[in-house]
Amino acid sequence: AASTDPSGDLSGRRIVISAGGTREALDPVRFLGNRSSGKQGIALAKAAHAAGAAVELVAANIDTGLLTGLPAGITMTPVESTLELQSAMHSAQVWADAIIMAAAVADYRPAEATESKMKKSGDDGLTLRLVQNPDILRGLVDERSRQTSLRHQIIVGFAAETGDVATAALDYARAKFERKGVDLLVFNDVSGDRAFGHDETMVQIISSDRGEIVVGEEFHGSKDHVSQKVIAAVSDQFTHVES
Ligand code: CTP
Ligand code: CA
Repeated sequence: AASTDPSGDLSGRRIVISAGGTREALDPVRFLGNRSSGKQGIALAKAAHAAGAAVELVAANIDTGLLTGLPAGITMTPVESTLELQSAMHSAQVWADAIIMAAAVADYRPAEATESKMKKSGDDGLTLRLVQNPDILRGLVDERSRQTSLRHQIIVGFAAETGDVATAALDYARAKFERKGVDLLVFNDVSGDRAFGHDETMVQIISSDRGEIVVGEEFHGSKDHVSQKVIAAVSDQFTHVES
């Protein structure tokens, strides 16, 4: 039977969604983090569940208040750091029909985390040495190309971009789409006052059709509304892959 759900029909599909933002420990009590609330990822998990999918939510530091009341069918794996998120995503990948990387991943982590609390020393400032984190999304795309059993997996990235004098936000997103090797990239324009934590958002879904980049129309609305559009686009990808 055709689904009447606005997000399409994902019955029998297994969807893994990362949400929130990773934190990188400096010492037992301090971390480097970002302002991602996890609301977008939770909205996606709910939309995928409503469309009939089995959902695993890999939750990076999401407020417990936001996680209460999640439908029972959504399983949750909590993670903190980028390396923990990476290993949780690779474990989940073997199970998944589609992966959506909505988490805000720290690009860098401290080169070393101390086991005891850092102490102030002298009167000077402090220089932290950071090392680059692995690109989890890239790793998932690479793993898919290595495993024939994963060939039909759909992989979706997110890109929150701001424009600058040289380049428009959308152009950065287009370049990211090409670089990442994903099937869909959800571009979110965060220029100006369209900052993190707001309930209203605007996205455009970037995909490709026979080698040409296709930029979808602008979707404005709540994170729930935008999530339905993203899940509908994932649902479309399944029909493309299988036809
Ligand atoms: N991502 C990831 N691993 C990283 C960084 C990002 O999996 N180490 C994922 C994010 O979850 C998102 C997508 O990649 O789905 C794009 O994230 P973004 O930070 O925009 O991309 P970067 O490659 O880190 O590029 P930038 O220099 O613009 O931050
Ligand atoms: Ca980044």
